[in-house]
Amino acid sequence: MMQQTIKKILHDPVIGRELRVSGWVRTRRDSGSLSFVEINDGSCLANLQVIVDSGLENFSAEIKKLTTGCGVEVGGTLVASPAKGQEVELQAKKITVLGPADPAAYPLQKKRHSFEFLRSISHLRPRTNALGAVGRLRSALSLAIHQFFADHGFFQVHTPIITTSDCEGAGEMFTVTTLDSGQFDGPDPFARDFFGRRAGLTVSGQLQAEVYAMALGRVYTFGPTFRAENSNTSRHLAEFWMVEPEMAFCDLSCNMEVAESLIRTVIRQILDSCSDDLNLFDRFVAKGLVNKLETACAQPFVRLTYTEAIDILLEAQGKEGREFEVPVFWGMDMQAEHERFLCEEVARRPVIVTNYPKEIKPFYMRLDEGEKTVAAMDILVPGIGELVGGSQREERYDILLARMEEAGLDVDEYSWYLDLRRYGSVVHSGFGLGFERLVQFVTGMANIRDVIPFPRTPGSAPC
Ligand code: 4AD
Ligand code: MG
Repeated sequence: MMQQTIKKILHDPVIGRELRVSGWVRTRRDSGSLSFVEINDGSCLANLQVIVDSGLENFSAEIKKLTTGCGVEVGGTLVASPAKGQEVELQAKKITVLGPADPAAYPLQKKRHSFEFLRSISHLRPRTNALGAVGRLRSALSLAIHQFFADHGFFQVHTPIITTSDCEGAGEMFTVTTLDSGQFDGPDPFARDFFGRRAGLTVSGQLQAEVYAMALGRVYTFGPTFRAENSNTSRHLAEFWMVEPEMAFCDLSCNMEVAESLIRTVIRQILDSCSDDLNLFDRFVAKGLVNKLETACAQPFVRLTYTEAIDILLEAQGKEGREFEVPVFWGMDMQAEHERFLCEEVARRPVIVTNYPKEIKPFYMRLDEGEKTVAAMDILVPGIGELVGGSQREERYDILLARMEEAGLDVDEYSWYLDLRRYGSVVHSGFGLGFERLVQFVTGMANIRDVIPFPRTPGSAPC
């Protein structure tokens, strides 16, 4: 039988119960003939206080030598705590040291370490309060997302990780090859490669999700995606997780409703179920976080067309010394500074921007009337900028074909995608939500490298 977790013990304490608990020592202090050992098992932020009497047989040989990081198993009785700080504590009858942690070498000591330092020890950092809380929140968010889709009749589709189609057409695909460096000579080396053609790691599961949306109606994929983009920013990773629903019989406005409802629902759930971890971030990482999250799920998101957004930015540009690093003009790809201005200073909450110029968006987005813009939607959130990118898809065969040719795609390679428009084509939409950006929004963590267990960025992929 698995032992009870500290979370369960603290949530549902039964005074007088005999317990066996295992965890890692956070701190130890001695007072008179007693030793107070705080242990944490990762199940929650809180520690369990263990009281050890000097009468215990291994008291001086082992207990007095316990330091931060040691693994221990404690058997004892749960008692009401006479002191402030905790309701209950465990009166130890037996403590077994499972694994020591030499204090002279163990890098995590009882003090605050910078997130930058912690990145250099990614194999140990989940043992800290903040990174442990990120780990629990990530898991809770993932579960809430799956639950949302299950509640709304979606099926999860496992789209491929290795693919031959570059969904975003941005040339950011990592190549997957078994060729050695000497074998790349000649006109088409990939013809001799494992798949007989060039293959890569997926940048998005969208195109394959569309295949299943055209059969199962409402689907989503939630998996790792890879981008070989050389951006060293606090919101880009080379490997990140993306949530991508794809829905038949759903237009742009339906798409926005689903995206907004997903975000507000999962945040509400996290506010209700993870308050201890959230309060930690509110206190130590991002003051006002809980308020910001309450606002995000209480009020509807602001909606602007791209043209309206550009007008607002143009009007702001130059006013009261407001300068953007990249000057604003209609047709530009908005930068994080513009996106953040719109939601942090204009709307003061999440904003959905729609109908972007077709030139700055991929071939699959549905062309609007007037043919200047496409039925795209991005959701921008305070502190981050773009959290979601999506669109109504081009379901008209001739227009899609023309857009693909314009984009310079090899139409033969995408004939399967065109077939979806040849046979039973219907209105459909979908979006991609960057999971790490959602975790950033929910935790207030400034750097995306601190919300994924093992970040991959240009020049860096330890363990
Ligand atoms: O806007 P993007 O590129 O859209 C797509 O890939 C579509 N095919 C999605 C779809 O419609 N099914 O990416 C979607 C989201 C972005 O809004 C952002 O949150 C996140 O993915 N994202 C990244 N997150 C971390 N690091 C990166 N390098 C990211 N690139 C995009
Ligand atoms: Mg985008």
